[in-house]
Amino acid sequence: MYYPEELVEEVRVRNDIVDVVSGYVRLQKKGANHWGCCPFHNEKTPSFAVNGAKQMYHCFGCGAGGNVYTFVMNYENYTFPEAVKMLAARAGVSLPEAEYDEEQKQRQNHRQQLLDVNREAATFFYYQLRSPQGQVGYRYLADRELSDETMRKFGLGYAGRSGAGLIRHLKQKGFEDRLIIEAGLGSHNERTGLVSPFWNRVMYPIQDIHNRVIGFGGRVMGEGEPKYLNSQETPVFDKRRNLYGLNFARTARSGNIILCEGYMDVIALHQAGFTQAVASLGTAFTAEQAVLLKRYTDKVLLAYDSDGAGVKAALRGIGILREAGLSGKIINMQPCKDPDEFIKKNGRDAFQERIDQAENSFFFEIRMLERGFDLKDPESKTLFYREIAKKLCSFSVDVERENYLEAVADKYHIGFENLRRLVGSYAMQTGVDKPPERPRSGVRQKNSPQENSRRTQRLLLTWIVDDPALYPRIARYVAAEDFTEELYRQVAERLFRDLEAGRYQPAAIVSMFQDEEEQRQVAEIFNTNLPRLETRQEREKALHDILYAVKKNSYEHLTASLGSDVTALSRAVAGKKALEELAKTHISLE
Ligand code: UTP
Ligand code: MN
Repeated sequence: MYYPEELVEEVRVRNDIVDVVSGYVRLQKKGANHWGCCPFHNEKTPSFAVNGAKQMYHCFGCGAGGNVYTFVMNYENYTFPEAVKMLAARAGVSLPEAEYDEEQKQRQNHRQQLLDVNREAATFFYYQLRSPQGQVGYRYLADRELSDETMRKFGLGYAGRSGAGLIRHLKQKGFEDRLIIEAGLGSHNERTGLVSPFWNRVMYPIQDIHNRVIGFGGRVMGEGEPKYLNSQETPVFDKRRNLYGLNFARTARSGNIILCEGYMDVIALHQAGFTQAVASLGTAFTAEQAVLLKRYTDKVLLAYDSDGAGVKAALRGIGILREAGLSGKIINMQPCKDPDEFIKKNGRDAFQERIDQAENSFFFEIRMLERGFDLKDPESKTLFYREIAKKLCSFSVDVERENYLEAVADKYHIGFENLRRLVGSYAMQTGVDKPPERPRSGVRQKNSPQENSRRTQRLLLTWIVDDPALYPRIARYVAAEDFTEELYRQVAERLFRDLEAGRYQPAAIVSMFQDEEEQRQVAEIFNTNLPRLETRQEREKALHDILYAVKKNSYEHLTASLGSDVTALSRAVAGKKALEELAKTHISLE
């Protein structure tokens, strides 16, 4: 949904950033800023600054930053329209209804009906669990050591002794057979009419990230097949794109997400304080789920069952995570079967230890691979090494491959050069990749000329935003085109236009961009650390130097890209003149 700029701006202005952030982070006023510990990285001393005048925040530790929209987008993991909606509601600004065409409206309506019937079923199950008939379910959950609070948090329920009660209830609430069937809550039976497949089961409502019930998992009481019965897929229940527990895990902020196999594992982990646990929905982990997770973390810890099937699933999961660019580690559950059992037997601290000791997915793969070879047999050993070499070839980044090569060689006592040669020959044979090279010098140039010039451009923009009265004095020396970084140029253009019209609203400039990374960069532009200068002369000299450097960079940039373009040529000549003039000019900060 696209909202007009004025409305976006109105909502922003009505949500003071200090107020909003204070709802999430403890802030303390010091100087021009309110300071707190950054919610976007781990820290003990505050380097997270919220500036009321600029209506922006910036973390000097991790570089996070933006306006009030960026903050809720980052903190709540909202998209831009979601952030607008939330802040509009907070400030009591009404947003226009989305304009749908007929077909969209119907589809929307239909999805809503499915969500409605699911919600009603969840409510029914919930009350059943707490009724005399539901005793068997409640006792089962209590025996599994779930507290009443946990049962409530996950909205757990009981399906009833037969499949008739739910149907009666839903019909009474006015839901049609057709809808009940489509939601997977009932099916027709020649003999008995419409009945629910869910009975004699403890019910786990499955929620999406907006806490809407999209489906159910039901565990049979006692022995019975199948152990878990899951709702079929519907227009609102896409098993490939949702994860159990993610509605809670997404705000856990633990720096990682724990992926488990079962609903019960997720619930047990949450109860023990590991609120970052999620599970797939009775199906194997998918690439879509990996992409979903990537919105919230870049570290996934696999807490799969320790049996053969669990290992197989973990190996599959590792590949999917790697493909999505997520780093995967494996939590060792031995000697327990699954996280649920582990927590019960050993408690939360022991599990935290297992998290800290989680094994890098590559080593896990190699270790599992090793099981298939007899290392006492030379031939088998060679084959094992070959397999390792093959795996190493899959790293596309040289440094990464080299690092793993070294670590594996060390761990399995293989000569480093031998293994390297093996990797090289494997790569050559298969043509998958070029042989690895020695890592380059490794020292990253810290301040490239580009970064230096970007920094100067940021300094100038920060200075102007901190002291807008400066702008009229320097306007004749600097133009938006002098900012050679495209994003900076767009920002300068808007800032200068605003200042010329007598407006000052830097935070509005942040919302010109809907991409979080761009918003962060804009906030960075306006929050560069200015040099601390005591005297006016020092400040004038610094300003002059910065201005001169920006101008010079702009001129050099222009001449470097100069072709036979005549207007560019004349602009370059003018630029050179301006530069010479500026060199001789004194800018007063009086
Ligand atoms: P498990 O059999 O490991 O179940 O299946 P669990 O979670 O340990 O169950 P409890 O502890 O005996 O109650 C793991 C997951 O696989 C799916 C479910 O999502 C379950 O949570 N599953 C399992 C099914 O969908 N159907 C089944 O019949 C069994
Ligand atoms: Mn279990």
